[in-house]
Amino acid sequence: MDDSTSANRRFWNQLSGAYQDRHDARIGAAPRLWGMYAIPDDELNALGDVAGKRVLELGCGAGQWARSLAAEGASVVGLDLSEAQLAAAAGAMGTDRYSLVQGAAERLPFADGGFDLVFCDHGGLSWAPPDQAVPEVARVLRSGGRLVFNVTSPWFEACYDEEAERVTTTFQRDYFGMNTIAEGDGAISYQLTYGDWIRVLRGAGLVIDDLIEPRPGAGSLNGFNKTDPPDWAHHWPSEMIWVTHKP
Ligand SMILES: C[S@@+](CC[C@H](N)C(=O)[O-])C[C@H]1O[C@@H](n2cnc3c(N)ncnc32)[C@H](O)[C@@H]1O
Repeated sequence: MDDSTSANRRFWNQLSGAYQDRHDARIGAAPRLWGMYAIPDDELNALGDVAGKRVLELGCGAGQWARSLAAEGASVVGLDLSEAQLAAAAGAMGTDRYSLVQGAAERLPFADGGFDLVFCDHGGLSWAPPDQAVPEVARVLRSGGRLVFNVTSPWFEACYDEEAERVTTTFQRDYFGMNTIAEGDGAISYQLTYGDWIRVLRGAGLVIDDLIEPRPGAGSLNGFNKTDPPDWAHHWPSEMIWVTHKP
């Protein structure tokens, strides 16, 4: 395990309790809620039918998504780097059981071609180097299988004012060269440009079917970050959901 992976594991182990106290109720308020604004998948139509499918969630956290999909009849594996997050998922598992595996998105402990769908919502593709994690996903997908994932948009990140601890309407850093965001104590998240995402996905042999830019309603508030104005994401894209498949 390299330094940043170890640091990310420590970061999430330390954060897990407080993060779940603050966010679990919102993330898990209903099945299939995407991202910082808890937008229902019914509105975005990103994931599709999962009944009977072999599904891998990369960075499943406390399993709010995984348990929803297990309840819909998918055979789900929730992978996460953090044992504290996996313990939270185990504690919240419902009657529809699913598998939990500790591991890193950049080195998946699975055989080739075993999954029909790999997905995450601010999970492994935000917290593992995409140039390593995306080829791993392509490897474990069967032909025709899909990768669907939600990450923070570069607009949102470029407008984040560290000092004011909020997203503003002023660019605070360059769009080009963000690449990694320091999260404290050596932990790192990843922030690619649109072009870099296209290259890393196509480079792994995946076909891009859609890029969904969720637009919350004017009154919807961000559950994780302060923004100025409060309805920032009604005006500019805060997240992007990439929809791809392996030919
Ligand atoms: C923001 S949470 C996403 C989970 C859930 N969707 C949520 O919104 O809470 C990020 C998750 O990614 C996990 N993670 C971080 N680095 C990872 C890696 N390299 N491979 C797999 N999971 C990782 C963390 O432990 C954490 O549980």
